[in-house]
Amino acid sequence: MDRLVVDVNGCFDPAAGGIARAELDAIAPAARAAFEGFEARRRAGELGFADLPADSAVAEASVRLARDLAARFENLLVLGIGGSSLGGRAIVSALGHPFHNLLPRERRGAMRVFFPDNSDPATFEALLGTLDLAETCFATVTKSGGTAETMAQHLALRERCLARFGAEGYRDRCVLVTDPAKGALRAIARDEGLRALPVPANVGGRFSALSAVGLLPAAAAGVDVGALLAGAAALEARCRSGSAGENPALLYAATLHLLDVRLGRHIHVLMPYADALRDAGDWFVQLWAESLGKRPGVGPTPFRAVGATDQHSSLQLMVEGPHDKVVTLVRVARPRADVAMSVPEGYRAHAEIAYLDGHTMGELIEAERRSTAAALRHAGRPVASIELPRLDARAMGELVMLLELATAYAGGLYGVNAFDQPGVEAGKRYTQGLLGRPGFEQYRDELARAAPADPSLVLS
Ligand code: PA5
Repeated sequence: MDRLVVDVNGCFDPAAGGIARAELDAIAPAARAAFEGFEARRRAGELGFADLPADSAVAEASVRLARDLAARFENLLVLGIGGSSLGGRAIVSALGHPFHNLLPRERRGAMRVFFPDNSDPATFEALLGTLDLAETCFATVTKSGGTAETMAQHLALRERCLARFGAEGYRDRCVLVTDPAKGALRAIARDEGLRALPVPANVGGRFSALSAVGLLPAAAAGVDVGALLAGAAALEARCRSGSAGENPALLYAATLHLLDVRLGRHIHVLMPYADALRDAGDWFVQLWAESLGKRPGVGPTPFRAVGATDQHSSLQLMVEGPHDKVVTLVRVARPRADVAMSVPEGYRAHAEIAYLDGHTMGELIEAERRSTAAALRHAGRPVASIELPRLDARAMGELVMLLELATAYAGGLYGVNAFDQPGVEAGKRYTQGLLGRPGFEQYRDELARAAPADPSLVLS
């Protein structure tokens, strides 16, 4: 097996909480319509994410810029939030050394890359206080070109760089990733003479991991961007059919959708048995939630777990709690490293430890994954499986494309537009009103008019 495998057998066993196989055949027309709806929008040029792997120009530009930054700086701060941060972070943490940023330069062989993501001033100030600004550059990543959290970080760094290094030093240290034509940041790039990479107009934030949004930080961290895109292209090529039996992303989307709408399994858990995929789980949560949770009150709730860590936490809920979940276990067939275990003489009298002797930690975590699958099935809980041959750039490209395409198809199956986020936009308007943006006064006033709180419900 040298390519990604999707196995949903554990979702079609009614005796183990699954649904009858015939149900999959019954929704074949809907699955085909979801596939064709997506392909039609793609052909019309509205949706571009599935074509990113073929865009070698952006990949080359990202690698060139990353090389140039790496030649002069030690640290890259990726200033972005949501889709402008999570995809890149997922790729970097999946493929880099687990402690990449802690390694000395000669072992790292690439820049340190940080994703502050949030606008929490405590974290941001602490990060700036930890890094030497002279050795630090930053990429401000925002598709819309004006996201408050991202611009807050950009403004803070810009000011410090200008004060310390002057206009040229700031220009040297700052690169932008934004819409090719629209938005405040594109105008700023022109006005300030900053280098800027494009996010194609038809690629939205959470689907932009394989554009410069993810490729620039990935290349800066030493990821083989060519292999990443080759993996994504290979997976995309396996998804050219409207039949779920021939398209792994459609099979996955149709299965999770069926279990949600027919059996009330509306919590979709992604549980990789690999720490390196923890951030990929966060990215999946964003992708699935922001794309599928839409009016009129539809959409599954994604949840990220990590094996074996969550066997000592949320797994209890998955095995014995409400019958409202489908768990996807992600396996990496050949881990990058393994650690042998040998039980010393003095411990051998303890049966609960002695059996570990001669095994490896890789065998342990694999046995735990299989056991979790068995325990879930035994408890009548459906289980899906995604298997990667190994965790390299190619396999990560496959995983990213699988989940992006599955999200697009699931949007069709749920009857929602997976590519907008009106609910998020409403919150942004209130924030802008509160902070005094002209034209947004009505939102500030609405909050000021909010009914007074019931004092009996406040304890202080
Ligand atoms: O997926 C999305 O569209 C969002 O999560 C955005 O990525 C997020 O809101 C940040 O937007 P922007 O890239 O415009 O700063």
